[in-house]
Amino acid sequence: MNESQKHTPVYLRISITDRCQHRCIYCMGPEGVAKFTHQDILSFAEIIRFVQVLKGHFGISSVRITGGEPLVRRGVVELVKMLAAQGLSELTLTTNGQSLAAMAGELKQAGLNRVNISLDSINPDTYRRLTRSGELEAALAGLAAALDSGLTPLKLNTVVLKGINSDEVVDIARFGIERRCEVRFLELMPIGPSAEHFADWFVSSQEILAELCQAFELEPTKTKFGSSSRKYLAQDSQGRQGIIGLISSSSSPFCRQCRRLRLTSTGKLIGCLARPEGPNIRPLLQDPGKANELSLVEMISDVLDIKGKRRLFWRAEPMVRIGG
Ligand code: 5AD
Ligand code: SF4
Repeated sequence: MNESQKHTPVYLRISITDRCQHRCIYCMGPEGVAKFTHQDILSFAEIIRFVQVLKGHFGISSVRITGGEPLVRRGVVELVKMLAAQGLSELTLTTNGQSLAAMAGELKQAGLNRVNISLDSINPDTYRRLTRSGELEAALAGLAAALDSGLTPLKLNTVVLKGINSDEVVDIARFGIERRCEVRFLELMPIGPSAEHFADWFVSSQEILAELCQAFELEPTKTKFGSSSRKYLAQDSQGRQGIIGLISSSSSPFCRQCRRLRLTSTGKLIGCLARPEGPNIRPLLQDPGKANELSLVEMISDVLDIKGKRRLFWRAEPMVRIGG
């Protein structure tokens, strides 16, 4: 890594729990994942310590809180407050929306800027089948509360699965446009249980685009550097407009522009989802001495270094463990 790269701000995703109320079919098996105990996962103080070192030595463009489902971690509002006090340019969170209705207001007050909501179906039966337990109604109530509380611009994430929700692409796009939400259609990644079903379930962005073209005029917009999605301005036959994004992680990865770092709930630092390996930095976060700080900076540099190298999904570690 050269000097200028060293000072390119990093987009940090922090997974704060591996737990989730759902067990989405592409994310985990019916039995869920073995749970870490509270002692295994990073404390809020350790998370803040990491953010401070990263901010001081590399710069942070934004921080996203993920899971599992981040809103099931006790004290999450407090953590949002602590993170917001670090003077970040943007603080966001990805949620399945199940408990958002009750929490949106206090999250906004605590300093959260906006949320992304995972919404893979707007059909209650398909939603339940896909999440194995989720209630569409709760997610929609969460979405409404987030919009009311100003956790905006709000993005909806939809992973498209052939034969399961692939017939809903246009409906979900319309649903988002009506609510002024950007809808992002994600290609399935061969991670966790998705690796096994990849051939059956995978739908490419090309195919999603072809579907969308039936209902919308699509005009490509300029892509922000480092952005993971290709964005289109979509307009339907009645002149309604909105933004639709396509995330082609599998067919055309955006590795070279990627400035993401992931901190897992147990303290592993991961540079790339396709190679979910990395050092556990927790011991270095527990004692804030100068020597530890320098070791941390070295480790972060090493992890950033593997970025931009050739990408290969090579281990079936579930997203719930890495932090979507
Ligand atoms: N492929 C694509 N996206 C995935 N997510 C979880 N597992 C996968 C996968 N195998 C997404 C969720 C959510 C975010 C947290 O990560 O759908 O939008
Ligand atoms: Fe939970 Fe998200 Fe995994 Fe679904 S995809 S089980 S909502 S963490």
